[in-house]
Amino acid sequence: MSTQSLRKDHKLIEKVLQALDTTIKLLKNGKQIPEQILLPTLDFTQNFTDVCHHGKEEEALFPALEKSGMPTSMGPIHMMIIEHKRTKEIATHIGLASKKYLENGDSAYLIETLEFYVKHVTEHLWKENNRLFMMADTRLQSTANEIDKSLDDIEEKKLQKLGKTRLHYESLVDELEKNVSKIN
Ligand SMILES: [Fe+2]
Ligand SMILES: [Fe+2]
Repeated sequence: MSTQSLRKDHKLIEKVLQALDTTIKLLKNGKQIPEQILLPTLDFTQNFTDVCHHGKEEEALFPALEKSGMPTSMGPIHMMIIEHKRTKEIATHIGLASKKYLENGDSAYLIETLEFYVKHVTEHLWKENNRLFMMADTRLQSTANEIDKSLDDIEEKKLQKLGKTRLHYESLVDELEKNVSKIN
């Protein structure tokens, strides 16, 4: 199935969104959120999600859909590309807000940006899982193996360029979940 690898990424991204949702609640309750939570969050959102996962969609899935007759300058693919840009912008704000928070403990901006992020990405993943990927699985049946291969290749290339591995991000997410659950 041509979207399997992307759905697997979504599961990992969803775990991070869950951890961020808990982080927001903790911040609202006045709890201190350490660097060990904020720095891996930035690594994951800015590298795994923006570079690796969105790279796989934009460089393998969307072009394959375009070849099958779906336009990229309008409609669902166009919408997904705009949403990727927005995801990246909000992640940049999380970076700025985290820096401020670690400097002076002011949590308002951080809460606001994390809330934006969780809402935006949750909605984006829903649209892909339940709309675009369903269309892709039907349209791309005959070229699924080829697309799977190019998704794997792009993932490897992107992660290599970042000097990271998939295992790094899987462990990062486990650690993030553990560290968030420890705060009470
Ligand atoms: Fe996407
Ligand atoms: Fe996605």
